[in-house]
Amino acid sequence: MCNEKKYLAENVHLSDDGKSVVIIDQRKIPNELVLLTLSTAKEMYDAIKSLAVRGAPAIGICAGYSIYCLSQQIKAENFEEFYSQFKKDKDYLNSSRPTAVNLSWALNRIDDLVVDNKDKSISEIVKLIGEEAVKIQQEDIAMCKAISEYGFSLLKEGDGVLTHCNAGPLATSRYGTAIGPMLLAKEKGVNVRVFADETRPLLQGARLTSYELDKAGVDVTLICDNMASIVMKNGWVQACFVGCDRIAANGDAANKIGTSGVAILAKHYGIPFYVLGPTSTIDMKCKTGDDIEIELRDESEIKDKFYEKPMAPINVKCYNPAFDVTDHTLISGIITEKGIARAPYTESLAKLFED
Ligand code: MRU
Repeated sequence: MCNEKKYLAENVHLSDDGKSVVIIDQRKIPNELVLLTLSTAKEMYDAIKSLAVRGAPAIGICAGYSIYCLSQQIKAENFEEFYSQFKKDKDYLNSSRPTAVNLSWALNRIDDLVVDNKDKSISEIVKLIGEEAVKIQQEDIAMCKAISEYGFSLLKEGDGVLTHCNAGPLATSRYGTAIGPMLLAKEKGVNVRVFADETRPLLQGARLTSYELDKAGVDVTLICDNMASIVMKNGWVQACFVGCDRIAANGDAANKIGTSGVAILAKHYGIPFYVLGPTSTIDMKCKTGDDIEIELRDESEIKDKFYEKPMAPINVKCYNPAFDVTDHTLISGIITEKGIARAPYTESLAKLFED
């Protein structure tokens, strides 16, 4: 067990000796708050793959600290030897999950730094990697705060917000992205209520979002995914706020499976649908959502993961994509730390990278 307040604020951090990555094991929430210490490449890979650490920005932060810890373990006589092992570690970590761009974004950022400093000593390079990893997390804290402020500017007293999956502090740093505006509203004394989709099959909404909002004292109501429509029809939702794992240059946005269904419902009921995420989640190399690789996960997550006994015939085929892509035409705005981008996204997103 650990100190709740301290670790919820920094769910991914370095151990005191700076040699391991310490994470909150998100698989155990809401029943237990326990820390996992990751020291080997396999432990780091498994933690990402099994969703012990999850949420696009948190995965990026974890990758930064992980490659720093692994770099300290490299025994090399010269830069070439160092870089060859660094690349192996990087590629291995990068293969843990395909959809959230923050993973490769953080690793590539550190790779570029290593190459730019190849004339320095190995110990100096390792020190720079550590500093860059800390920077990635510090920047994420600032970005989440800015995103939360922009999101908050769209809310008013009494509004209902529907969210899907978990894009709160556990998935990022501090405020989170899609959950941040409501946490900020609470701090500012503005009352909003949140409908949290449970988010089948891994229940991030039930286990994590309702946990975070409840702890913060925000009015949260948990619903099954198939209840979003009735809640909207009842007039209880004034906006949908969701996170993202990768946004293509045309504004198509990959997020947790089920998000695009929420966007289609929102359009039907005339409710604005916003995607919130840092610019590190925008991948200008993906022209459209068709270029985004969608992670396929094990069928046991659907059939028996959270049940005492299998809840489907043991041999039945399952299709278990972890993400879907919301078409840009369904998105009212993309809320980043640099402001709210509106359609046409090909222009507004490109503008975010101009300076
Ligand atoms: O499979 P997960 O739990 O890592 O999926 C997470 C999401 O889809 C989040 O909405 C997204 O990463 C944004 S987190 C700020």
